[in-house]
Amino acid sequence: MQAMNTFGIAAVAQQFVRIEQCEQLAVVRCDPVLSGLPRLVLGGGSNLVLPDSVPGLVLQIALPGREVVAQDEDYVYVRGGAGENWHEFVQWTLELGLGGLENLSLIPGTVGAAPIQNIGAYGVEMQDVFHQLTAFDFNSGQSLTLNKEECCFAYRDSVFKRAYRARMVILDVTFALPKAWQPRLAYADLARTLAQQQIDAPQPADVSAAIIAIRQAKLPDPQVIGNAGSFFKNPIVTTAVRDRLLTHYPQLVSYPQADGRYKLAAGWLIEQCGWKGKSLGRAGVYEKQALVLVNRGGASAAEVRALASAIQADVQARFGVELETEPVFA
Ligand code: EPU
Repeated sequence: MQAMNTFGIAAVAQQFVRIEQCEQLAVVRCDPVLSGLPRLVLGGGSNLVLPDSVPGLVLQIALPGREVVAQDEDYVYVRGGAGENWHEFVQWTLELGLGGLENLSLIPGTVGAAPIQNIGAYGVEMQDVFHQLTAFDFNSGQSLTLNKEECCFAYRDSVFKRAYRARMVILDVTFALPKAWQPRLAYADLARTLAQQQIDAPQPADVSAAIIAIRQAKLPDPQVIGNAGSFFKNPIVTTAVRDRLLTHYPQLVSYPQADGRYKLAAGWLIEQCGWKGKSLGRAGVYEKQALVLVNRGGASAAEVRALASAIQADVQARFGVELETEPVFA
């Protein structure tokens, strides 16, 4: 499965089925051998750390389809098959002249994986434009529609990482793209990049182009160097913790949250611990962004875990802050 996970781990699956039609899922569910195995649902493999040997059944979701399904006064509704490449789907909406997904340009992975961790970047989360999705329920053998509330979206989180993990397979996702589109430029680098290009009334495609430039400057291309994007969530702490840290570390990077707490920049914490650019075995910390762990060539899951644990221990010891991993560990 080395080519199926962006970390480039040379994993071997016990059983593997590529799902190109929804009906195959019902067949797998009734299969006397496959139905009894633990399941791993695979999209683009871009937020995943695989063990060298994956027990049970890997289901690679390759369901295609892009469609404008409806519109009302406020929104155009577009649907993507779970197996569609996310970035290509975003570009397709932009070519139709529809805004809403541009800040999420160039995120690796598939449309069906996007709701699982509620992908987010540059001031927008997928839940901001999410309408509904359909999923196949392995418990009942039925397909069902889930709305935003039922998906329990939170920062890099949803019900699909928790209660519905391995139970539900997302088949397609529908987004509500606003007709009265407004650019979302709260992320300072984004506003700066557009200003440098002297674009003062940006269209969705301009925002997308700026996002692509920012991502390419900061984040490693998985085609070139194996990685799974941010390896840890930015920790959210109380005001008391943030204030205590600020007295010792006036440079601390933190962002106020709607609930009164603060999100800390985990990349800053990791960099302060001296990890930026360092390696442990064949796993390393990206030179330009300390929140991203990379495969220096041939890294095993054990090496990636060892590096992640060492970073977590150092951040805990120095700042008293717990870092939670972001990718799914299979
Ligand atoms: N920083 C450092 N050193 C570093 C990295 C970051 O000091 O090595 C500090 C800088 O002050 C910087 C701040 O941390 O201003 C924030 O860094 P950045 O804007 O690069 O964003 P991030 O918090 O590290 C998050 C997401 C990214 C997303 C960007 C932009 C998470 C876990 N990560 O990263 O998402 O692209 O914001 O919105 O929330 C992903 O989830 O895989 C991902 C790449």
